[in-house]
Amino acid sequence: MNIDGKPWRTIWLEPDGGPGGDAVGVIDQTLLPHQFTTRSLRSCQEAAEAIRTMVVRGAPLIGVTGAYGLMLALQLDPSDAALAAAFEQLNATRPTAINLRWALERVRAKVQPLPPAERAEAAKAEAAAIADEDVAMCEAIGDHGLALFQQLAARKPGATLQVLTHCNAGWLATVDWGTALAPIYKAHRAGLPIHVWVDETRPRNQGASLTAYELGKEGVPHTVIVDNAGGHLMQHGLVDAVIVGTDRTTRRGDVCNKIGTYLKALAARDNGVPFYVALPASTIDWTIDDGVAEIPIEARNAEEVTQIQGRISTGSAAGEIAQVQLSPNGSPGFNPAFDVTPARLVTGLITERGVAEASEAGLRELYGRG
Ligand code: MRU
Repeated sequence: MNIDGKPWRTIWLEPDGGPGGDAVGVIDQTLLPHQFTTRSLRSCQEAAEAIRTMVVRGAPLIGVTGAYGLMLALQLDPSDAALAAAFEQLNATRPTAINLRWALERVRAKVQPLPPAERAEAAKAEAAAIADEDVAMCEAIGDHGLALFQQLAARKPGATLQVLTHCNAGWLATVDWGTALAPIYKAHRAGLPIHVWVDETRPRNQGASLTAYELGKEGVPHTVIVDNAGGHLMQHGLVDAVIVGTDRTTRRGDVCNKIGTYLKALAARDNGVPFYVALPASTIDWTIDDGVAEIPIEARNAEEVTQIQGRISTGSAAGEIAQVQLSPNGSPGFNPAFDVTPARLVTGLITERGVAEASEAGLRELYGRG
C-alpha cells in the first residue's frame, strides 16, 4: 500500500544487514500513527522481541516475522539444536494467532531434512514465499469481499455503504492489503462510495491508531468511534455490514479475534446487520472445533488497561508520545486480548478462495478437508 505516494510492504529483507547475513526490516507499529519509523531485526532474539512487544502485530504478519526469525537464527547457527531453540523462542511470543505456529512449522518442515549448510537459504526462500503468498491471498480476499460489498450497495443505490470494523485487519496486520480492509480498499478504488466506522479498540487502540492511519493514507472516508458505540449505530440503521479479521478460525467456523469482536457480532445479530470475517487459509486451525473451549487467549499486561499511550497535544511537551495513567493507584486491571465469536453469529467467511458459510461443511467445500 502507499504511504505518502511510496509503496510499502510491512516486512522486507535487508541483504547483508545482520551478523549472520541478512536483516529484516519492519515498520514499528508501536509508534504509529504519530511517528513512521522502521526497524532492522538482526537476530532471532530481536524478531521474537518485535512480535512480543507488538512492534509487529496482526496474525499474518506475526507469521511472516516468525518465518524470517527462523532464517535469522539459522544464518548464525544451522544446527538441529539451534533450529529447535529458535522455533520454541518464536512460538512462545504470542499464543493466540495460529499463523505464527503455521509459518514456523512450514519453515521447519522445509529446512529440517536438509544438510545444515543449506538450511538458512532454504528458510529465506520459504519465508519469502509465505510473504508473497500472503499478499496474493489478501488481494484475493479483497476481490471476493468487493463482490459482496457491491451486492450490499445495490440494495441502496446512490447511497454510501457504511461498514464497521474492529481492531486493525489492514495491511499493517499482514504483508500488504490486509484481510478485513482489503475489500474496503478494493471498493474505494473501484469508486464504490464507502465509509468506515473504526472501533478505537481498547486497550491498545489498534483501530484509532492503525486502521485510521491506513484508511487516511489511502483516502478512505472513515470515523473513529469508541468501542461501545457500535450497537447504537446499528440500532439506528447506520451500519450496513461489519467486517473483521481473525487470529484463529476453528474447523467449524468459530473465529477468535481482538477482544470486543464478540460483542459486535451479538449487536449485529440483534439488528439484522451482516457480520463478515475475512481470513486467509493460514488462519484456519483444522485441529480444533470449539473456539471458546480450545483457543488459548493471550492475557496481556494489565497496564495496557489501566494506562493509555498517546501524543501530548498541549503544553511544553506537545508532540511527545507518552503513557498516562487512567485508574487509581492500586486498582487492578485484567487484559484478555482476544475473544471468540461462535460460528452461528458469523454471516460468512471471506477467504482467498471465495465466501464460505461459517461451518465445517462450508470450509470443507472451499478447502477440501475437515
Ligand atoms: O493484538 P493484535 O494487534 O495482533 O491483534 C490483531 C487482530 O486482532 C486482527 O484483527 C487479526 O490479527 C486479524 S488480522 C489480519
